[in-house]
Amino acid sequence: MIGRLNHVAIAVPDLEAASAQYRDALGAVVGPAVPQPEHGVTTVFVLLPNTKIEFLQPLGADSPIQGFLAKNPSGGIHHVCYEVEDIDEASRRLVAAGARVLGDGAPKIGAHDKPVLFLHPKDFSGHLIELEQA
Ligand code: CO
Repeated sequence: MIGRLNHVAIAVPDLEAASAQYRDALGAVVGPAVPQPEHGVTTVFVLLPNTKIEFLQPLGADSPIQGFLAKNPSGGIHHVCYEVEDIDEASRRLVAAGARVLGDGAPKIGAHDKPVLFLHPKDFSGHLIELEQA
């Protein structure tokens, strides 16, 4: 059901520092910082030949990644995002298999203007999975 790895998201306390490190030390193509107030984050995409890295820095008072950074002050891998063709079908199939979809269970429009949902980390070996309808 899942297809390509769309991105790996890394929560960072300092977006500028993380961007400079990937650009200067790792020689990667690093995009601009994009504030996404409706999602409580500022994002930067690092473009790799086969996938992307997404840096997430909290934006605003109740950012959804504030708690994660409180537990991981130097940053850390926050989620992996896999592409699916039909997110409603994916959601039905996962719920039927006993997986928990975060929130009210319905896909939302994510930070990339495409329908996404998140799966509970406790159901998947301790990692947060984002599914995105490609
Ligand atoms: Co993501």
